[in-house]
Amino acid sequence: MQILSDPRQVQAAMLDRRARGQVVGFVPTMGFLHRGHASLMDLARPRCDHLVVSIYVNPLQFGPGEDLDRYPRDPEGDAALCRAHGVDLLFMPPDLYEAGHATTVHVAGLTEGLCGRSRPTHFDGVTTVVARLFGLVQPALAVFGEKDWQQLAVVRRMVRDLALPVEILGGPLVRDEDGVALSSRNAYLSPDERARARSLVGALRGMQAAVAGGERDVDALRAQALAHLEADRVDYLEVVDPDSLAPLQRVDGPARALVAAFVGRTRLIDNLALLPG
Ligand code: PAJ
Repeated sequence: MQILSDPRQVQAAMLDRRARGQVVGFVPTMGFLHRGHASLMDLARPRCDHLVVSIYVNPLQFGPGEDLDRYPRDPEGDAALCRAHGVDLLFMPPDLYEAGHATTVHVAGLTEGLCGRSRPTHFDGVTTVVARLFGLVQPALAVFGEKDWQQLAVVRRMVRDLALPVEILGGPLVRDEDGVALSSRNAYLSPDERARARSLVGALRGMQAAVAGGERDVDALRAQALAHLEADRVDYLEVVDPDSLAPLQRVDGPARALVAAFVGRTRLIDNLALLPG
């Protein structure tokens, strides 16, 4: 596995591979990698000739007072995980943007609700960095996790609207044994917080069971789930159309429940299909 830090060097190498007809697969990350990230590499590996993983904690997608300064890092552990999952190139730039960077990629609509409501600049940061990474890595295929359901929808829309020649694949959300969605941010949780973090998936599974039992009314589903949550503050708990992310009043077709909540100082997100899409 090669490790490169210079964006220009990566772009030159990838343009060369593309010219030789190789399929470049790409998994962008912010590091502190876990089995959720690894599952995306495993999804990409058989579908490409050259597998690239990037690790870059992107300042543009963090708001003031968020965890940019304390975001967990483990470059050696990350490199070992990438090696074990057949990664060809690990791209770890110390900086990604040129001096005087002046471009923002903004996807309207999809970015306004859910996480976008409490993190108003977040998705602009995500789409701007993903567009730049795509320009450097030149992937034919890129994999994003369903853990960040809204992010996946926003990236798909950007790729469609800008006609970027990249196929976007979604990878299923990977959970720990206790059901908690794997996240680099779980490293922040104390034992008590970790125990309470389980209530997010518990609330979502409760909604899923209620739907299976015939409940269709979203207010009733939400009330039941909110009573179950042991979070310190609930940012949102919504039932939405899986593709448009439009809020639903009733569950009559494909529907997904999405939650964001603070456990201690840590903001956690999770989501689950209520009726398959
Ligand atoms: P990060 O949080 O490191 O996640 C990188 C990728 O791994 C994302 O596509 C995310 O959805 C996926 N992922 C994280 N936890 C997962 C889990 N438990 N199961 C499945 N997939 C999981 O998301 C980002 O970084 C950034 O916003 C990025 C896209 C890299 C842009 O900076």
